[in-house]
Amino acid sequence: MAINNFLLFNLTLHLLLLLRVSSDPSRITGDVSRTPKKFLEYAKSPEVLDWMVRIRRRIHENPELGFEEFETSKLIRSELDLMGAKYKYPVAVTGVVGYIGTGEAPFVALRADMDALPMQEDVEWEHKSKVPGKMHACGHDGHVAMLLGAAKMLQEHHQDLQGSVVLIFQPAEEVFAGAKKMLKEGALNHVEAIFGIHLTNRVPFGKTASRAGSLLAGSGFFEAVITGKGGHAAIPQHTIDPVIAASSVVLSLQHLVSRETDPLDSKVVTVSKVHGGNAFNVIPDSITIGGTLRAFSGYSKLQQRVKEVITKQATVHRCNASVNLTPEGKGAVPPTVNDMNLHKQFKKMVRELLGEESFVEASPVMGGEDFSYFAEAIPGHFSFLGMQDETESYASGHSSLYRVNEAALPYGAAMHASVAVQYLKDKASEVHDEL
Ligand SMILES: *[C@@H]1O[C@H](CO)[C@@H](O)[C@H](O)[C@H]1NC(C)=O
Ligand SMILES: [Zn+2]
Ligand SMILES: [Zn+2]
Repeated sequence: MAINNFLLFNLTLHLLLLLRVSSDPSRITGDVSRTPKKFLEYAKSPEVLDWMVRIRRRIHENPELGFEEFETSKLIRSELDLMGAKYKYPVAVTGVVGYIGTGEAPFVALRADMDALPMQEDVEWEHKSKVPGKMHACGHDGHVAMLLGAAKMLQEHHQDLQGSVVLIFQPAEEVFAGAKKMLKEGALNHVEAIFGIHLTNRVPFGKTASRAGSLLAGSGFFEAVITGKGGHAAIPQHTIDPVIAASSVVLSLQHLVSRETDPLDSKVVTVSKVHGGNAFNVIPDSITIGGTLRAFSGYSKLQQRVKEVITKQATVHRCNASVNLTPEGKGAVPPTVNDMNLHKQFKKMVRELLGEESFVEASPVMGGEDFSYFAEAIPGHFSFLGMQDETESYASGHSSLYRVNEAALPYGAAMHASVAVQYLKDKASEVHDEL
């Protein structure tokens, strides 16, 4: 869609909205069933959309890696200051926890991650990353903009909130440690439920995908050093060849999924790194291999078998092996499991906000997300927001050609705001029922 037409269209909508809003001082509380649609109209208005786009582009130009999101965090805080929202900072180095509403229970959280990836952007455009070797290629710049958009809308209606909305701006999702650290520092204290949204090119624009139960896999890494005894490549009998041992290890690891796993229970063992040797005629002393493991269940059993296979196969070939299950300090994240009740609420919200046909039942994905730490601590719900356009194709996450379809930002902002309002409203009516 041409952005100018789009804006013009929304400007008109916004003017209509303003007229209606000004004659209805209670706004959000007035007609409950129309609340979500109002959020979407407002999020699409230039006042909110252009502002979100500006924020997203500023963050995109200055990508920061995990736990280094100082400028991003500063930008978030200055926007929260401008809208008059309270927040805690720092929570987990650069993290920000904002609060909107009564300041009292119930508390419902919305989460955005802030970090970029250590890769070079190959998209040539006006707001290309200005930092060589760093890029927002997972849409986290868009996630921050969407959550700020929701914050703005919620703050403007803060008197109508029947509880508190907690805004989680989280560092270091890509290195899988940010959520854990935020939890440890109390970001979710008193919070009853948390919702997260991720932009994706795998879902059509304007639609959202999710499912109840397991959505994303438990995910982690391994690295092993297989040590033999190097020597002359033409006199192998005087060496202990780690290349043969490593080859054997790589093949044997494939049997963990093909022979030891229920074919209906998805798991992945990938060896993605093999390093060793420098010369045509020298057998090296050691080979280093590494890779990733994915599973929805039985993750620690799989880890244990990986370790066993590597060390025992090395022994078969007279080599020794040491296995590291947290290479570079990267621990495993649990699977992301969506709470049944929150999923029902989410679907209801989507129906009211975007219409029935905009919900897509997601298949589980073997990718990992550290949102899982939050969803393990309290009921959580993670969903994907579609960007894929019929006329334009968007690259997948972690591609150097990754782009965000900025027209999707209002959808994310409105979904965030609506689901929070609805959660608090449902909670209030529950309490009412009990009385
Ligand atoms: C393996 O470890 C054992 C015990 O430390 C040691 O005796 C042996 O020399 C090692 N073998 C290799 C190939 O490094
Ligand atoms: Zn990512
Ligand atoms: Zn991501």
